[in-house]
Amino acid sequence: MQPIAWQISLVLMTLVAFGFAFVAINSGRRQDDYTPLQKSAYRLRTRLFWGLVLVFGPAMIYTLLDLPYDAARARAGSGAVQVVDATGYQWRWELSRDHVAAGQPVEFRVTSADVNHGFGIYDANLHLVAQTQAMPGYTNTLRHTFAEAGTYKVLCMEYCGVAHHNMMTEIRVVAQ
Ligand code: CUA
Repeated sequence: MQPIAWQISLVLMTLVAFGFAFVAINSGRRQDDYTPLQKSAYRLRTRLFWGLVLVFGPAMIYTLLDLPYDAARARAGSGAVQVVDATGYQWRWELSRDHVAAGQPVEFRVTSADVNHGFGIYDANLHLVAQTQAMPGYTNTLRHTFAEAGTYKVLCMEYCGVAHHNMMTEIRVVAQ
């Protein structure tokens, strides 16, 4: 499903790009009736535009190289992938194992037995370290390598009923 959506998006984005190119090519120059001040203002605007393209174009490409982000995070580790099956229920989490090793990639296979839940992993300071959705009838893969050992919390990140706030469990990350 996602590759199809991506391909359709690419086609539509190409059409839009052609539309812009068509308008740009067919628009004439109308500098003749500009005052000198207007001319220098437009020159400044053109320089500013290309300056921004030069700065943000490479910056955008550089940051996009990490996509998909979870694969980049998983590459940070070494060793065999540790698979954790995670299922959300109203209102608890079920994990196929309660601990994983630090520094070694983990693959969470996340799904739900009833409604949509949000699978969020938090460190001891309750900072979010990784998240994905838990959806019925679908398994989302979340890859993450824990750099530090400790006890991490799994909280539900999407309102899923009256006891949503109770929906939490822990996963221990142990040093190798
Ligand atoms: Cu499950 Cu909120």
